[in-house]
Amino acid sequence: MKRRQILAALCASAFACSAALPLAAQAKDDTVKVGLILSMTGPFASTGKQLEQGARLYMAQHGDTVAGKKIELVVKDDTGAPDHSRRVAQELVVQDQVDVLGGFVLTPLALSAAKVATQSKTPTLVMVAATSSVIDASPYFIRSSFTLPQVTIGVAEWAPANGIKSVATLVSDYGPGIDAEKAFIERFEQKGGNVVEAIRVPMQNPDFAPFLQRVKDIKPDAVFVFLPAGVGTQFMKQFSDRGLAGAGVKLLATGDVIEDDILNGMGDVALDVVSSHHYSAAHPSGLNKEFVQAFKEAYNGKRPNYMAVAAYDGMNILYNALKATGGNTGDELLEAMKGQKFESPRGPIQIDAKTRDIVQDVYIRRVQRLDDGELYSVEFDVMKEVHDPAQRG
Ligand code: PHB
Repeated sequence: MKRRQILAALCASAFACSAALPLAAQAKDDTVKVGLILSMTGPFASTGKQLEQGARLYMAQHGDTVAGKKIELVVKDDTGAPDHSRRVAQELVVQDQVDVLGGFVLTPLALSAAKVATQSKTPTLVMVAATSSVIDASPYFIRSSFTLPQVTIGVAEWAPANGIKSVATLVSDYGPGIDAEKAFIERFEQKGGNVVEAIRVPMQNPDFAPFLQRVKDIKPDAVFVFLPAGVGTQFMKQFSDRGLAGAGVKLLATGDVIEDDILNGMGDVALDVVSSHHYSAAHPSGLNKEFVQAFKEAYNGKRPNYMAVAAYDGMNILYNALKATGGNTGDELLEAMKGQKFESPRGPIQIDAKTRDIVQDVYIRRVQRLDDGELYSVEFDVMKEVHDPAQRG
């Protein structure tokens, strides 16, 4: 079936589409429309904003025309609700006639839109949703972010090599948290460590206090934590209030917990936290310095986090692919997105042509106060070209 026939079928099954279809198709011959589905309201609004700003910065720097096609972003709010995300994806494909979809802060949001991407054959850039299995939900998914197992194994290896032998894990109770817990336990125990307790906290509005008290009572050498971006501030406050550091329990994390958008506001409690992740605003490359400076200039001095970078790189993947296809979209564009390799502000990255997932360097970092007086995750070690360990890459 051709894409237009598929759209008509989706149109009939989804909702009334009126006569908008032929008009939209005519108008967009010289335009490539990119529908970004982002959480712009609700608890993950700050992450949606970072994604939009990262994408728009790329376009401001590289122009809004590529291979003779004008790039048009259509941003829609999924409010963080999976049902909404599927409906918005349908609207974007059927009514707005987008050629590419992208965004998805949370795993359930990407999963619920997967069928729309597949049925409409729309190349879709997953810019956050980091549960390993998300990539299998649609053959039209390309991931420009990371996976939790990919970024967790770094700190799981660092800890036992640095005297940390007993750990309690504390993760958000849904896909990426469960991935992080599993990856941490496997790798940490393989390297001689012992996980004494595995705690899962509710994803929505968690109260960490009872869980932290439990950790304090067990008194392991450290607690390893994964929480999705944006939630870490409340956790750090309760970690401090409960006096875990004073009780000798170190904090290990993925970079999500102490991400650049919120890290500096956490204050001294974050000092010395060791984490592993794929991006820090303090990554010491020339390209990243330029990226951070441009982002701050464009957005009132705000620091980019790994969301902004994933959207920036997602647009880079799209631009490169359009250059390769001479502006053609559909399956040809999807194929051109696979196997791309370039230098990102985070370091070298590539899209594995077989898995459609990202392969990248993962850094081990420690929170320090730098000369500008602000807190950053400062990289001190690196694992090169890490695939998602769960994948067949
Ligand atoms: C996810 O839901 O997959 C997710 C969201 C935010 C993160 C990491 C993973 O920081």
